[in-house]
Amino acid sequence: MENSPKTFIYDNPEQLAEAAALRFINSAQAAIALQGRFSVAVAGGNTPKRVYELLASDSYRGRTEWSSVHIFFGDERCVPPDHQDSNYRMVKESLLSHVPIPTVNVHRMRGEDDPALGARLYEEELRAFFEAAPWPRFDLVLLGMGEDGHTASLFPATAALREKKAWVVANWVEQLKKFRLTLTVPAICHAAHIVFLVTGEAKARRLHEVLSGPRDPERLPAQLIQPVDGSLEWLVDKAAASMSLSSS
Ligand code: 6PG
Repeated sequence: MENSPKTFIYDNPEQLAEAAALRFINSAQAAIALQGRFSVAVAGGNTPKRVYELLASDSYRGRTEWSSVHIFFGDERCVPPDHQDSNYRMVKESLLSHVPIPTVNVHRMRGEDDPALGARLYEEELRAFFEAAPWPRFDLVLLGMGEDGHTASLFPATAALREKKAWVVANWVEQLKKFRLTLTVPAICHAAHIVFLVTGEAKARRLHEVLSGPRDPERLPAQLIQPVDGSLEWLVDKAAASMSLSSS
């Protein structure tokens, strides 16, 4: 499968969100036609929220067979599911509570548990879902990127960046003085389609470094995301691309 990353630049975040929603729908339709189910790992943070709202909207909701969709999470904050910082809560409020997805198809990370336990339980759930696969093969992984170049909860200079065996880890993030639950790099990179969503001028310098700067993954973890056998797309708005400028 084509591995070289592609970058798409949109005039504004709304256009980017529409393009991302269409990628979700197209991936879902293709996976369900092929294998009867669609597995997607969703991103947290603010940028993807508009994508989820669109997918739940009248113009998009009916274009996905929600009974065959399985929602997983790329990372989670170590808080209860009703906490304002919970990625699960954000996705539930912007998408899950508005679409006919079976509760059993929503695979949330248990941020309320002891972090090591939460990571172990989620890995067990993933291994059960992907049966005996050596690595999870998500049909789609949505990712954001922080101004520091982190993605999921793979933060600069943290232990999770070097994880080669586990699918999910509890990552101590010194910068936040907190643990985060996160899929590991290999667990993300074995996906069929990986899509980054990046908006805003505040991320322009880091995005330029990640896409065209020297390779320095300890400082720029987003550089670690290279599909093993899949596609990688960067959906960015003009403001975030202001230092990169060209679609590829
Ligand atoms: C999280 C995310 C994280 C996010 C980036 C960008 O839990 O926070 O998974 O990786 O994608 O921090 O966040 P924004 O979209 O809010 O800028």
